[in-house]
Amino acid sequence: MKITDDVQKAINAQIQMELASAYTYLSMAAYFDEHAFDGFAHWMQLQRREEEEHAMRFYRYLHDRDGRIELQALEKPPRDFASPLDVFEQSLENERKVTASIHSLYELAQKEKDHATVSMLAWFIDEQVEEEKSALEMVDKLKLAGDHPGALLILDKEAAGRNAE
Ligand SMILES: [Fe+2]
Ligand SMILES: [Fe+2]
Repeated sequence: MKITDDVQKAINAQIQMELASAYTYLSMAAYFDEHAFDGFAHWMQLQRREEEEHAMRFYRYLHDRDGRIELQALEKPPRDFASPLDVFEQSLENERKVTASIHSLYELAQKEKDHATVSMLAWFIDEQVEEEKSALEMVDKLKLAGDHPGALLILDKEAAGRNAE
């Protein structure tokens, strides 16, 4: 079955969104590097890499379906953050937007009776549960830490131990 124009367009938009997320997380890593939060910077670099892998999953899928990959322009990512909590709150907000986008792509694929795309997207739906969960956990912990430098450094150290999935 030939991929429909609408699904192809939506997948290209999703590639853009995943790469924009990677770009945003790289900018967040730069903020943490600047403020000597090495662990949070490491976390954001892992996140950046995951987003690039997500983009590549969509890229390969579109190619496998004989679709046309058309990369879109990326906007300048946010660079000014108030605190580590602010960064993770923005990253949670970003993940929620990505989840909504993947859900609407899923609904589009269902509407077009594109079962292969529906099946491919199941992985992303599960992945987004994890993505929101890990961002939310960090937001909750950072709220507990408040402005205490000692607590922030403990969380930073914990983030340094995060491994690639
Ligand atoms: Fe992603
Ligand atoms: Fe993500």
